[in-house]
Amino acid sequence: MRSPIKHVLVIGAGGHAKVVLSALMEAKADVAGIYDDDPFKLGTEVLGVPVLGAIGELRSVKGVVGVIGVGDNATRRRIAAQLPGTEWLTVVHPMAFVDESASLGLGTVVFAGAVIQPGARIGRHCIINTGATVDHDCVIGDFCHIAPGCNLGGAVTLAEGVFMGIGSVAIQNVSVGAWSTVGAGAAVVTYLPDRVVAVGVPARVRRMLEI
Ligand SMILES: CC(C)(COP(=O)(O)OP(=O)(O)OC[C@H]1O[C@@H](n2cnc3c(N)ncnc32)[C@H](O)[C@@H]1OP(=O)(O)O)[C@@H](O)C(=O)NCCC(=O)NCCS
Repeated sequence: MRSPIKHVLVIGAGGHAKVVLSALMEAKADVAGIYDDDPFKLGTEVLGVPVLGAIGELRSVKGVVGVIGVGDNATRRRIAAQLPGTEWLTVVHPMAFVDESASLGLGTVVFAGAVIQPGARIGRHCIINTGATVDHDCVIGDFCHIAPGCNLGGAVTLAEGVFMGIGSVAIQNVSVGAWSTVGAGAAVVTYLPDRVVAVGVPARVRRMLEI
């Protein structure tokens, strides 16, 4: 945990939230509850933490300290905009390595086995998922998701909202445009524009996205 460990609220009660909760617990955070808009989840528990209410209810709560436990990048952006007064926590699982010269934005989560190398700059509300590696001097925009086992070479640039699929790679110095998706197992070897889905080795644009 880069921020002081306080009474933390997790937003989202799905599978990704479960991993966020695990990272918080391993970091000895005091997790007070979960908020989710699915009425069927109210009163249930995730890893023993109760679902207390809908996300909108947090707007009237003062002094919320939270982390967004939702894997979808556009949804994290929407929730962050919905709750402007929230103090967002940056969460690093104790079994991740983050070089001290790397920077992590507020609300970003780094899971077990991830490695973030010197000079990397990671934006707000990003997910550096299980076993992903972000090498030296990468620049990762806000709301990106680097899925499990993804490897980014040195000085890769990802614009806002990029999703790098599970097991994908990007060679050194390449960049990916805003809100693009790189498919599972793809290899990015040259520039990819904004709002595309690219798959394969080497990664080729398959279709455009309307985000
Ligand atoms: C790339 C991706 C986003 C495409 O999803 P989609 O738009 O719904 O695409 P579809 O599943 O309809 O597949 C369309 C075509 O692309 C192919 N395709 C899909 N994903 C592919 C991939 N990763 N690599 C190569 N080809 C892929 C399909 O085989 C299909 O080919 P066809 O038209 O010849 O039959 C998705 O398949 C993917 O890889 N997601 C990553 C998931 C992930 O990493 N999850 C981790 C969460 S932590």
